[in-house]
Amino acid sequence: MDPANIYADPRTRNVREDFTIDQGWSEYTAEEHGTWDILYERQMQCLPGRACDAFLQGLQALDLGKGGIPDFEQVNEELMKLTGWQVVAVPCLVPDDVFFEHLANRRFPAGNFIRKREQLDYIQEPDVFHDVFGHVPMLTDPVFADYMEAYGKGGLRALGYDRLKALAALYWYTVEFGLINTPHGMRIYGAGIVSSNKESIFALEARSPNRIHFDLERVMRTDYRIDDFQQTYFVNASFDELFRCTVDTDFGPLYERLNPCFDFTPTAALESDRIYTRGTQEYARAGGRKHNVKPV
Ligand code: PHE
Ligand code: FE
Repeated sequence: MDPANIYADPRTRNVREDFTIDQGWSEYTAEEHGTWDILYERQMQCLPGRACDAFLQGLQALDLGKGGIPDFEQVNEELMKLTGWQVVAVPCLVPDDVFFEHLANRRFPAGNFIRKREQLDYIQEPDVFHDVFGHVPMLTDPVFADYMEAYGKGGLRALGYDRLKALAALYWYTVEFGLINTPHGMRIYGAGIVSSNKESIFALEARSPNRIHFDLERVMRTDYRIDDFQQTYFVNASFDELFRCTVDTDFGPLYERLNPCFDFTPTAALESDRIYTRGTQEYARAGGRKHNVKPV
């Protein structure tokens, strides 16, 4: 939806200053609740053993599989106890400053509408399934919860620097498409992956994408695709590691140094990248090079 039209659309007439609306839980149709159930079931066929423990435990803790589209009020009761986060309903993507302000205050803006049955595999705008199934379970993890708040605060600060694209790349390659290499194997935590049936398999199993150990500056210099599976995934050893290399770094000098455009394409592989290669059982430790390294 075009943000300019939100006052005209009956669905979103009551939008507040901060872009939030009532979820309107009682207005969902049986078909809409059914769409959630189909998507949920389908993901539960493939995510155990692929999604990280924090995500799977978050799903349980928030009872997101109890049937139908979750009522944000109920989710919030539990989420507040766990990490002090809240989900707030929004009708559409919100402007950057509004988005950052919500995150900085531990509020996650989630679309309240759900995709149509003919859009089960792909929708352009994030709906309640992507936002709540994909993002909210990770907010039950204390470290990740703090990372998201820090990201919001960092975003507010970045508004003064004109390098928002670099910060958006960081969000994309972590919050949306991040992987984590656990002692039990490579796992998914990115919301864009866990809410996509095909990419949940592709991200871990396909041969084509690069899986590169997370490096802050490398990530912030890398362009990303929003219309296809990723060709590069960045991998952290733990959420503590992700937290340390982002929250403990002052991005000010980094913004000064970065070029206005991205330096690396979404498929680039660099000499300096620490690449994960897939062995028979698990991914080898990062450090090995892919044989087809192409400097850009
Ligand atoms: N440390 C960052 C800064 O100085 C803030 C930030 C933290 C940004 C975590 C993103 C993620 O701006
Ligand atoms: Fe998202």
